[in-house]
Amino acid sequence: MSAPTVVILAAGQGTRMRSEVPKVLHELCGLPMCLWPVRAALRAGAGRVVVVDSPARALAEVMPQEVELVVQPQANGTGGAVIAAADAIDPGAPVVVLSGDVPLVSAEAIAELLAAYAAGSAAATMASTVLADPSGYGRVVRDAQGAVAKVVETKAPGDASAAELEIREVNTGIYVFDGAALLGVLPRLTADNAQGEYYLPQALDLLRADGAQIAAHIVDDPALVLGVNDRVALAEVRVLAQRAILERHMRAGVGIVDPASTWIDVDVEIARDARIEPGCSLRGATAIGAGATVGPHTTAIDSRIGAGASVRISWLEGAEVGERANVGPFAYLRPGALLREGAKAGTFVEVKNSDIGAGAKIPHLSYIGDADVGAGSNLGAGTITANYEAAPSTARRSARACAVASTLRSSRPSALATTPTPLPAR
Ligand code: UD1
Ligand code: CA
Repeated sequence: MSAPTVVILAAGQGTRMRSEVPKVLHELCGLPMCLWPVRAALRAGAGRVVVVDSPARALAEVMPQEVELVVQPQANGTGGAVIAAADAIDPGAPVVVLSGDVPLVSAEAIAELLAAYAAGSAAATMASTVLADPSGYGRVVRDAQGAVAKVVETKAPGDASAAELEIREVNTGIYVFDGAALLGVLPRLTADNAQGEYYLPQALDLLRADGAQIAAHIVDDPALVLGVNDRVALAEVRVLAQRAILERHMRAGVGIVDPASTWIDVDVEIARDARIEPGCSLRGATAIGAGATVGPHTTAIDSRIGAGASVRISWLEGAEVGERANVGPFAYLRPGALLREGAKAGTFVEVKNSDIGAGAKIPHLSYIGDADVGAGSNLGAGTITANYEAAPSTARRSARACAVASTLRSSRPSALATTPTPLPAR
């Protein structure tokens, strides 16, 4: 079997989110929802990944290079979305269709569906699952022999009969089609249904009417195929995605004291024996070194925390904390803050765009901006470096002078406190 083309439908309006932001761009653990199936497709060995976007092309910004974007001119249904991708469909390869709003689909689930398709003789195999509450999903209607007959939609009244509404086996919106067979039926999709849209599942009816077999592969774990149609479902899916991320780290040797109060984005890296205390939110491209202690109650966004460092009750954004450095409680490290090895930014200390040398200490109540602080310095309480007007290089130089002055003052035995040092005028 040649490598599959994976088509991901992501051009829908997502009206049930009640949002200005397209549904598939809503974030799930640090990643836009639609990138979850994209990553699963790439991991599952897709030959091509084609994403169907709306005319606003809102997805172009977030898609990785290897993804091809096609535009569906109007949101006229999932069938219309696949028609928009027809030029990218190779008749000689299987076509996997995924939904941009079914984010938890895994590479394994895609591979399993492809294997079920390859093992059978159906022109299309859909992944189905049995839900306790199937409301809103398309239902899988089977004939007297148990073979799949069709899918009926239930989002709007009128498509499904009362008996069909009792069915709990649902279409997950994930399918494998024979490329040529799919291209053969797409021109025959019609919009004569309750929503006046082109429904992709009608392709299954048409294939069956042509005498081909269609099949459903039942997925045991419904969590993998939950669709996000509104913000309630997004929150439910987030709990599952978050749990999986936390378990991956714990199994890799990270100590997570209270998983229920710990939020870690999907791309955060954490080395062994790091300890994440309760109430932490680790976001974006944050990386935590071995044996570091983070938290309690710390937020780190796009920040690096070195091995053996300690960061308590603090907020870090675009900051770098060196090995064995010490942060907080109540520190605010802003973009460009670099604490070198063993340095300290203590209580009520804010640091921005500054290089704090190895072992340097800023223990209390300070604002350090645009400064280079030499290794081993000890800044007195209340120290401020700021040079709003100066060019960055001048700012750093004058700040260094200031830091040295503070060090001298605070090394005097009687100096319990210092006043802010005015910067030299330019
Ligand atoms: C769809 C299926 C339903 C299935 C469910 C599983 C149809 C008609 N119904 O319903 O059988 O149980 O998924 O989650 O296919 N999209 C486009 N262009 C459009 C419309 C939708 O690209 O014009 C995209 C959406 O962005 C979304 C996906 O297709 O990612 C599914 O669309 P949605 O409207 O959510 O379909 P459902 O009603 O959930
Ligand atoms: Ca949906």
